[in-house]
Amino acid sequence: MTPEEVYTPVAEFYNSVASEYLERVQHEAHSAFPTIVPKILGEHGINQSDYNVIDLACGAGFLKTYTKFNSYIGVDVAEEMLGEASNNGYDMLIQNDISTVLAGLGDAVVDGAFLMSAAYFLSPHVLSETIIQMRRVANKFICFTFDGVTPALIKEYKNNGGIDVYNHIGFPLPEGIERFTASGWTADTGEEIQVEYCFGLLQ
Ligand SMILES: C[S@@+](CC[C@H](N)C(=O)[O-])C[C@H]1O[C@@H](n2cnc3c(N)ncnc32)[C@H](O)[C@@H]1O
Repeated sequence: MTPEEVYTPVAEFYNSVASEYLERVQHEAHSAFPTIVPKILGEHGINQSDYNVIDLACGAGFLKTYTKFNSYIGVDVAEEMLGEASNNGYDMLIQNDISTVLAGLGDAVVDGAFLMSAAYFLSPHVLSETIIQMRRVANKFICFTFDGVTPALIKEYKNNGGIDVYNHIGFPLPEGIERFTASGWTADTGEEIQVEYCFGLLQ
């Protein structure tokens, strides 16, 4: 499959839910992120206001509702989600596939790179390359999550939207990246989805 064939149904799906997305993740499904992510950053001495970050697959800009970085570049394939991120104060927005954007960026051009609640849209091969590229474009830290999508949820994405999703819990990581499991989210199928938080300091 070409990258376009992979991400076009993803963009269509997220365009259709964009207007309600932020409200939903803030108040229901992903309510633990605002507690856990700032805690990880604080424990690693990240003084947020000094850092410029890139938020890969930024969606509606949920990251900015619970962090206070100096600036945010958002990347996403879904135009309507980027519209929400724009309303939410992102400094620069790029509508494209994260692999294409990462390949076009120079080394160490941002301080931090995030990939939150989106790795499950990437095949194992693309995910490996994405982690390599995140370490290249960021000079201070990377932070990402793996969502333990269940067989029922994988089937639902495929049947309802023609979207392939992958469970990457336990995915092999390069040295220096720590991971832990913490509170997850509730899927539309009613299942509790496990979330693995991964963080790596780059210097
Ligand atoms: C579950 S949402 C998460 C959004 C945001 N990171 C958050 O924490 O709320 C997944 C987002 O990933 C985007 N996405 C999925 N695959 C992508 C890709 N290959 N390139 C860019 N964006 C992608 C979708 O359009 C969607 O906005």
